Amino acid sequence: MRTLILFSSRDGHTREIAHYVATQLRAEGEECDVMNLHRTPDIEWERFDKVIIGASIRYGHFHSSLGNFVKRHASVLNQLSSAFFTVNLVARKPEKRTPQTNSYTRKFLSDSPWAPSLSAVFAGALRYPKYRWYDRLMILLIMKMTGGETDTHKEVVYTDWAQVDAFTREVAHLPGKKL
Ligand SMILES: Cc1cc2nc3c(=O)[nH]c(=O)nc-3n(C[C@H](O)[C@H](O)[C@H](O)COP(=O)(O)O)c2cc1C
Repeated sequence: MRTLILFSSRDGHTREIAHYVATQLRAEGEECDVMNLHRTPDIEWERFDKVIIGASIRYGHFHSSLGNFVKRHASVLNQLSSAFFTVNLVARKPEKRTPQTNSYTRKFLSDSPWAPSLSAVFAGALRYPKYRWYDRLMILLIMKMTGGETDTHKEVVYTDWAQVDAFTREVAHLPGKKL
């Protein structure tokens, strides 16, 4: 079984989750390749049985490469076993952490020509010291308005790694499909 994991990440947290999932899948005996969705050359799809795409949110949107990639490869994505995970800070609230209750994920899935076999939403990371001043200020305002962390010296990872483990186990149980 060979899985391709593609990530769309701005500050590296979705990339970190993608590599974590790869490590877990390898421990289950699966082979895994991890690639940056923003820089994919031609993918040799016939090498893979499963594909996972992970993408983060910035200012309310996924990176435009995600939509373009999914449109371009929808037919292949729909033929393989596939899974989608999204990463954002709204999902630090458990009630906003499912594909139905997380508005970014719900909207993406309802507009998408790709219907993943599995979808999940993970809470992301808040890393004030790493942001440029404008982003730090904007995130601070959002956190003030939504009752989140406002100490700009802090870095907080809200990701529930046990939830990521459970998602990975579900992916491992998906039957592989060759093109
Ligand atoms: C400039 C900026 C804007 C963000 N906008 C949103 C947002 O609109 N909604 C949200 O839920 N999270 C938002 N986030 C949180 C990110 O989705 C979260 O930090 C995630 O872990 C980033 O993943 P990445 O490092 O893979 O890009 C924002 C983060 C930054 C730095």
